[in-house]
Amino acid sequence: MSPSSPLKGIVSVSVLALAIQLLFIQSVSSQSQNNAFLYHKCSDIEGNFTSKSPYESNLDSLFRRISYRVPSSGFAASSAGNSPDNVNGLALCRGDASSSDCGSCLATAIPELRQRCPNNKAGIIWYDNCLVKYSSTNFFGKIDYENRFYLYNVNNVSDPASFNTQTKALLTELTQKATTGDNQKLFATGEKNLEKKKLYGLVQCTRDLRRESCKACLDGIIGELPNCCDGKEGGRVVGGSCNFRYEIYPFVKIA
Ligand SMILES: *[C@@H]1O[C@H](CO)[C@@H](O)[C@H](O)[C@H]1NC(C)=O
Ligand SMILES: *[C@@H]1O[C@H](CO)[C@@H](O)[C@H](O)[C@H]1NC(C)=O
Repeated sequence: MSPSSPLKGIVSVSVLALAIQLLFIQSVSSQSQNNAFLYHKCSDIEGNFTSKSPYESNLDSLFRRISYRVPSSGFAASSAGNSPDNVNGLALCRGDASSSDCGSCLATAIPELRQRCPNNKAGIIWYDNCLVKYSSTNFFGKIDYENRFYLYNVNNVSDPASFNTQTKALLTELTQKATTGDNQKLFATGEKNLEKKKLYGLVQCTRDLRRESCKACLDGIIGELPNCCDGKEGGRVVGGSCNFRYEIYPFVKIA
């Protein structure tokens, strides 16, 4: 069943450029929504590389390694080459993506990222099912505050005040679940019964982060709820280190 969301908005928050971009994309069929392209960003500040350079060959070998390693576990972070041509990268699949969905997401995302950021020394791309990021700077373990965007359903709920409170409560609960106990995936999903409907949520961090950083990252983006998704039936804040999503329909794959 296709969710009843006619339009979704994307807001990109670029801390560097202090620019806010507003785009609207058509809602896609539920088939392709399983792995929709969301957004990408190429970094200009880290500089450029030239075709056939050592940097490019390190980048390509890094991506080969990541494509090979990630589908079985859903995450890998790796580096290739020596200074000044070393490249750092990671890929993360959504916690509920099967290893075949994960592999096919990367098979789409990596060439697409190479094409969109052909000479940039850093870049990031997001799909529904995966995230791929690389940089000449070693960013492992650090919260990415620079790459972030919002996505929301344009439909408004009828009871925004209580809905917002419940959304925040669910995502805060899921943050706790993702960062405590024996949870190794820094991923949690859950649901909450509201008066007339049900709320579904998901939180996830990249696994180069320690638990405390994951929690700090999620707490930070949950704090952006009023900016991204005030009274909206669905919303996401998606970053380079963590993301959340909530909807009033089930969107998590049952294994
Ligand atoms: C990288 O390339 C872009 C486009 O070709 C150019 O605008 C930019 O100035 C370059 N950046 C550096 C640091 O050389
Ligand atoms: C939701 O509310 C906003 C702000 O009041 C309004 O601009 C927008 O048109 C509403 N969306 C729908 C789908 O009615």
